Amino acid sequence: MSRSHGKHRILRLISLLALAWVSRAAADPAPTFHEPWRPQFHFTAPDTWMNDPNGMLFYEGEYHLFYQNNPFGNRWGHMSWGHAVSRDLTHWEHLPLALAEADGVMIFSGSAVVDWKNTSGFGQRGKPPLVAIYTGHHTTKPLQQQHIAYSNDRGRTWTKFTGNPVLDIGEADFRDPKVFWHEATGRWVMAVSWPQKRKVRFYASPDLKSWTHLSDFGPAGSTTGIWECPDLFPVKAEGRGGRSRWVLVVNVGSGAPAGGSGTQYFVGEFDGARFVPDTASGVPTKGDAHWADFGPDFYAAVSWSDVPKRDGRRLWIGWMSNWTYANDVPTLPWRSAMTLPRELALRETPEGWRLLQVPVRETRGLRGPGSSLRGATVPGADAWLGQRRFPAGLAELELQFEQVPRAGVLTLTCRHGSIGETRVEADLGAAVLRVDRTRSGRSDFNPGFAAVHQAPLRLADGRLSLRLLADVSSLEVFAQGGETVMTGLVLPASPGLTFSLAATEEARGLRVASVALFPLKPSVPPGSPSRP
Ligand code: FRU
Repeated sequence: MSRSHGKHRILRLISLLALAWVSRAAADPAPTFHEPWRPQFHFTAPDTWMNDPNGMLFYEGEYHLFYQNNPFGNRWGHMSWGHAVSRDLTHWEHLPLALAEADGVMIFSGSAVVDWKNTSGFGQRGKPPLVAIYTGHHTTKPLQQQHIAYSNDRGRTWTKFTGNPVLDIGEADFRDPKVFWHEATGRWVMAVSWPQKRKVRFYASPDLKSWTHLSDFGPAGSTTGIWECPDLFPVKAEGRGGRSRWVLVVNVGSGAPAGGSGTQYFVGEFDGARFVPDTASGVPTKGDAHWADFGPDFYAAVSWSDVPKRDGRRLWIGWMSNWTYANDVPTLPWRSAMTLPRELALRETPEGWRLLQVPVRETRGLRGPGSSLRGATVPGADAWLGQRRFPAGLAELELQFEQVPRAGVLTLTCRHGSIGETRVEADLGAAVLRVDRTRSGRSDFNPGFAAVHQAPLRLADGRLSLRLLADVSSLEVFAQGGETVMTGLVLPASPGLTFSLAATEEARGLRVASVALFPLKPSVPPGSPSRP
């Protein structure tokens, strides 16, 4: 064998091995949880596609999170419920698939409850069953019905009810049931969406199996897009002894302020049968609806069921993506993350009641050693910020400003390593908050991704607060104690994060009352987990 022939064979062997490695990686890369852009403290499925959060409930010390999952790939399809549990809402243990597509029926979005009184009769040995209420989406005919399934082992295994469907109105689009126990009338209430009609329908049941129609709500508020994933719950006003109001959540498939899908809500009253929104005119109008998050990546948000009364919080989580480009975000092997779980409250403002959202307090457990600064000028705070770097791109920043004028622009720049930046701008004259991701990194997968988004910013009593949580490929901004929230994906081209602060001439007079800065610790497994 000649030398050159041998070299040729070796090269061929190397290229064959490389090809086998590359195609294996493309077909089935094993998750490491440290791939490019993998969030480090936000929830992601290990190696597959995820959309809406589903069936969240608290039971025996565990917060359950189910999610719309394609167990076979990282694009939407074969919808089933993935499953994870957490004791602190920040570290998640991945569990096997809870409910799988079968017999031509996909498992679309829905909710789950602890049936404390065993009204369904599914309980065993004096223990309440967990009951999931979801949409059975038929793949062979245009039909969506509501189905139930139950678990007698803390959600580890699920049995589909043999009497399914439990609710069928013969519609192709009728989905996303959210069920809760209505104390005052002593029965279950379901909010379920009629997407094409822009309506939420309410039903009642004594046993989760037979459902009676109560009333319909809508169209109202934003009706550009289809209505999906409703939720209805009471929320307390902020502060001690605050009164409670009802919030009806409607996720809207398109036409949200940042483009594409988004979450709107109405504040009002619910008497056990009918939801009546606060309205100036007596008839619900567009102005009675509000957007929960003005960023592009917050959708399908619904709340946790059965959070103990002694805890008393209303918690929710959203899908951190947008149907405009969700299937094209260039991540592998997983695709899509959830937002941080958030605690809700209401605030009475001169313009009416508004939802407040802040990351759950458990998120503070992710903080590494922080540093803080009090009483500074903008250039002083900027110099201080410039000395602090976050190589892994995980950071939390809290800023409090005083003597905020009604003119000028305050800009917080998040620099992504050596190339790219995302700007958070408080336009004090226009009273808006903007997040500009046009230069944040990769955006070629969708023409609308690189954009500037904006939200109304209520500037009361010369104060402004900004809280920002950055996690490799996302930025969640909470302004004014969570009254204005903007969530967005960013796909930086280089790792690392630094901050800088600047103000235009008219805004120079404002004072930086305090700055607090923390590195955040990853909550994903350090090694390479195998899927159960
Ligand atoms: C919302 C949604 C739901 C549906 C699910 C299907 O994102 O379209 O209405 O149940 O996703 O995956």
